Amino acid sequence: MTSAGSFASFAPGKVILLGEHGVVYGQPALAAPLSWGVTARGVSAARCSLELPSQVRGAVRSILQTAFQRAARLCGQPKIRVRLESDLPPSMGLGSSAAVSVACAKLLLNASGRPANPSEVLRVAGEMEGVFHGTPSGVDHTCSAQGRMILFRRANGPRAARVRPVRCQRPVKILVALVGSRQATRLTVAGLAERHARWPIRYQRIFKEMGRVVEEGARAVESGDLEALGDAMSVNQGLLTALQLSSDRIQATVQLLRKMGALGAKLTGAGGDGGAVIGLFLEPEPVVAKLARQDIRCFVSQIAGPRAL
Ligand code: MEV
Repeated sequence: MTSAGSFASFAPGKVILLGEHGVVYGQPALAAPLSWGVTARGVSAARCSLELPSQVRGAVRSILQTAFQRAARLCGQPKIRVRLESDLPPSMGLGSSAAVSVACAKLLLNASGRPANPSEVLRVAGEMEGVFHGTPSGVDHTCSAQGRMILFRRANGPRAARVRPVRCQRPVKILVALVGSRQATRLTVAGLAERHARWPIRYQRIFKEMGRVVEEGARAVESGDLEALGDAMSVNQGLLTALQLSSDRIQATVQLLRKMGALGAKLTGAGGDGGAVIGLFLEPEPVVAKLARQDIRCFVSQIAGPRAL
């Protein structure tokens, strides 16, 4: 709570460093929070509501309202009016819906006077993510709620999700380049599910290999071997391409980042036809200026390691 009757909570967006899509099929994924995210602000009101700007229309407006109302019911409908502020580019695979879900969950729990303990935040945010994405693995909102790099394996029946923090002694910096609009995550995930149902043996083989690459990448982070992490990212991109989750635009950006010195580069998030590409650089800052001159929207985030004071 910030002042009498007003509340605020922040939740970061995320990048998946390794293992998107495989994580839906029970393989691990390595994900990290971004410095950008969503802030939810609430003020006392006659009833619980989400106030959206008039520019937010149609399907986006209605799904946001449905997700918010579901979370509000779970939190006992605290009497607040909520607004969202985001500095994350939406629909780019950078976890904006997960950040909305976690920021709202924390805010609603606080406003209802219930302890916003991590498992409650995950439960409420998970319900919202279910509205946004159907049956997500949970990696996005878990990473946003944890606020640190994690190795994640989804829940399976009665078995809860397995989450392990992954630390690095060295700074791990990535450059995030925006490729462009893409279809909804649920459609990309559904397309892959159809191909998987048709050719299960081949697709399972690829998911298994992806899982190994993720474990190797997590070990590379822990030992500070950024070259090995970069290689794991590039191999992961190859596997995502084999699963038909990349596109010419994504591939061109991956190649460009590699030419500019990335230790590894790959799509991040659902991929498909657009979204974002990440490149691992020892010093990404000069690359940002060069890409900006080519009209490529990009930014840098340190996702692990000691932070500068
Ligand atoms: C989306 O950020 C990550 C996917 O693996 C979907 C999911 O985990 O639910 C593509």
